[in-house]
Amino acid sequence: VDLDTARGAPAPGVNQADPRPGMVELGPGYLDPALLPAALMRRWVGAALGRWGAQTLCYGADSGPMPLRAALADTAARMDAMPCPADQVLTTAGTSAALDRLAVLLAADGRAVLTEAVSYDLGREIFVERGVRTVAVPGPHDDVDVAELRRAAVRAARDTGRPPALYLIPTFHNPTGRVLDATRRREVAALAEQLGLLVIEDQAYAQLHYDTPPPPGLRGYGADPERVVSLYSFAKCLGPGVRLGWLVAGPVLAGRLSADAARRSGGGPNHFAAMAVAAALLEGGFDRHLRWLRGRLRMRRDALLDALAGELPGGYQACPPAGGYFLWLRLPPGLPGESLVRAAERAGVAVAPGRRFGGDGAAVRLCFAACAPERLRLGARRLLDAVRTVYP
Ligand SMILES: Cc1ncc(COP(=O)(O)O)c(C=O)c1O
Repeated sequence: VDLDTARGAPAPGVNQADPRPGMVELGPGYLDPALLPAALMRRWVGAALGRWGAQTLCYGADSGPMPLRAALADTAARMDAMPCPADQVLTTAGTSAALDRLAVLLAADGRAVLTEAVSYDLGREIFVERGVRTVAVPGPHDDVDVAELRRAAVRAARDTGRPPALYLIPTFHNPTGRVLDATRRREVAALAEQLGLLVIEDQAYAQLHYDTPPPPGLRGYGADPERVVSLYSFAKCLGPGVRLGWLVAGPVLAGRLSADAARRSGGGPNHFAAMAVAAALLEGGFDRHLRWLRGRLRMRRDALLDALAGELPGGYQACPPAGGYFLWLRLPPGLPGESLVRAAERAGVAVAPGRRFGGDGAAVRLCFAACAPERLRLGARRLLDAVRTVYP
């Protein structure tokens, strides 16, 4: 069976959401199943079993299997342009699980979390659900306002008696696609150092650049290693069903994160998947897949942008991303994204309302990772029809 092409109708009840027939789905932040490496994964599972045998089926090392952590430490060192010891790398069951574990620690410590005004809504929800106080810091949709951050951090420290954490998506932001430049990263790292913040850097899309790689992660700007924890995920490049991610933290926090009763009892999360991914990294198949995927995503971004180019009325502003999954479409001031979402649904294209992510709500998020280029062109035509029916 060719797993990459053998695809009938999806079996119901297997996945979180199924595409609706006839609808162009630009709403959810998913990767098109046609871009998921099902056949490669079968090879990597076989390679892991061939190389490590029954060790793939034993409880995994609490911090994650060393062959994978060593390869990931090399990746982090390359991306952040600074050394990364493997004992500062931990595997996770994805970024959501890592955020949840951090939320438990922050709640126990009585620390608040600052977030960007516009941010990944479900990430923020994880903190809220664990009883962590979150504070959305005002700022432009395409940058962070460091002076506002400082004010909010000082206020939160005064209110709680502890320096807060900062949840930040510096690279190919969800939902805006924005990349923080090196200057801003340096300023945020300096602020963290000065005020004792913990920056929770969500790098879920950081490896998905289309052309030049993004600037180094926050770790690369000289702050004390305990001031930054960087979260990565295989969800966005191999598939969310793999349920595997990894993080880089300073030695103290890494020790605290791995000294978890659930890890002592069950070992590192998703050990079997971790061993298959280790095989992928060691045999070079992962890098080849990543290069291929970046090219596919670039083509999809271009298909959507080209279909919208010159067709959007005044006041609309598409923010072209240099990586990741999302195009952020700013609407004329005062026009709520929900109006366009409803009109778009009627026209047969789903988009996500900007307000879900915070900010002024005059925006929608378009995910171009889930559809083939011809579907994106159809979705863009339907969206433009919808745009003509709504007025500020
Ligand atoms: C910014 C961001 N962080 C984390 C996640 C979730 O990652 P994971 O699937 O690894 O839990 C997503 C998925 O949409 C995301 O966009």
